[in-house]
Amino acid sequence: MTALSSLLPGGSVQDLNGVSPMTVADNRARACAKLLADVHAITAREGITPSALHAIKLKLVALANKKDLFPMADFEMPVAQGRNHPLLVEENDGHGLYLTINMPGKEAAPHDHGIWCVNAAISGRERHEFFRRTDDTGKPGHATVVKVGEVIVEPGNGMAMADHDIHSTEVVGGEPAIGLALYGYALARFPSVAWYHEEFSSTRASPSRRHPAMA
Ligand SMILES: [Fe+2]
Repeated sequence: MTALSSLLPGGSVQDLNGVSPMTVADNRARACAKLLADVHAITAREGITPSALHAIKLKLVALANKKDLFPMADFEMPVAQGRNHPLLVEENDGHGLYLTINMPGKEAAPHDHGIWCVNAAISGRERHEFFRRTDDTGKPGHATVVKVGEVIVEPGNGMAMADHDIHSTEVVGGEPAIGLALYGYALARFPSVAWYHEEFSSTRASPSRRHPAMA
């Protein structure tokens, strides 16, 4: 405890030994690294189970509640409907943590990511509806789904889904839905996403971004 500090006119704390003060970005990076360490501790104990995903969701909600770490001045708004800002993307095919901004009215049809996902809100509201596939998957391009649940992701709340859970999303209200999203794989290495069209009882898959050997 030798460092002497003084409060500068601007209100920031300057270390007189010449060490730069911690910035919001530093604190955010540290908090994100801690989150991923906690996530790995959870999954090392029990793998990706419903209870592990629940525990991860609670950790992500706690991080999203620290709004001071995520000032909007640090994150550009979307040009179109939505934007993902990488916060921490792990090496070696690890997880991806993002700050997501979805504009009012943005919606996505039912889909499954092929990889688990956890969301937590910083501000705004997004409705997630969950579906279960009801056909026998035997007919290419054909699929039927039925709604099985709904969650409003808003401050203090989040949602978790397993590898092949199906959800649809819709930003509700007049303000952007801003939150944290943690995926089992980084978005740039995402597997094929299956989209379901209820009205046509059909499904189509987007191309996988995984290495061919991993697809
Ligand atoms: Fe999704």
